[in-house]
Amino acid sequence: MSIQAAQRPPVEIPDIREQGAPKEGTPQVLDRRLFMQLQVFTGCPHPQPLVEAVKKSGLECVLYLDINDAQGIGLLTLTEDPSVLTQTARQLLLSEPFVRLTPMREFTMLGRTYSSGHEQNLEDWLLAKSRRNLSNPTLSWAVWYPLKRKPEFELLSKDEQRAILMEHAKLGMSYGTGGLAHDVRLACHGLDPNNNEFVIGIVSSKLHSISRLVEDMRKTQQTAKYIESMGPFFVGQVLFSSVK
Ligand code: HEM
Repeated sequence: MSIQAAQRPPVEIPDIREQGAPKEGTPQVLDRRLFMQLQVFTGCPHPQPLVEAVKKSGLECVLYLDINDAQGIGLLTLTEDPSVLTQTARQLLLSEPFVRLTPMREFTMLGRTYSSGHEQNLEDWLLAKSRRNLSNPTLSWAVWYPLKRKPEFELLSKDEQRAILMEHAKLGMSYGTGGLAHDVRLACHGLDPNNNEFVIGIVSSKLHSISRLVEDMRKTQQTAKYIESMGPFFVGQVLFSSVK
């Protein structure tokens, strides 16, 4: 070994497993997460055959009717293994009846569930909570959009960031506790063609509740000061869900 190599400090390998709050003194860690991809299509006047094709594929999906396009469809696919998106899901899209539709690529969103370190039940948070929301037949409305934070947020101290997120979380949780709306929060750093950082899905039994939540969030520090861009917004009603 050369003298220079011997003097080099050891490389610290980052621990990129998801981490939750400690449980009985032991840190919760899990190297699993759910990927979700939303793809939007137009040119679909008869959506029922899509339901049959999704059922046959065995994929875990939600099919949405696009409220803003009478021929529009949204397909949300969930999987722990991202290769499912480039294999089984790709086969589905290359087969009848999906292959006849026109993709609306500007609405494609891809993200992963992630932890912030405070989760009391890490596995439930990463793998089960969003499935519960996406398989609940009463939560039939959904709005999905990507967003990018301003870099200034990262320059704030941890305490300032915590206070800003607390204000946000308090408002979000008041909607959740009241059964008005629930969030599906995904990170998409490095996965989004437009450099977005988060994909947000808000689900509810009432569309106006989602709109009110988005409106109320605009008044929070986080949204008013630290979000650079949001959208496009996809607004759909569930036609079919095979999410378990
Ligand atoms: C502990 C609870 C929560 C945390 C830590 C949290 C964190 C986040 C994060 C990191 C983002 C991405 C934007 C950014 O931070 O710059 C975000 C966005 C968002 N979250 Fe939350 N969230 C929480 C609870 C909720 C709940 C319960 C809801 C709704 C029921 C909600 C609704 C939203 C919405 C609508 C956005 C998009 C921003 C906007 O439209 O103004 N959040 N949240």
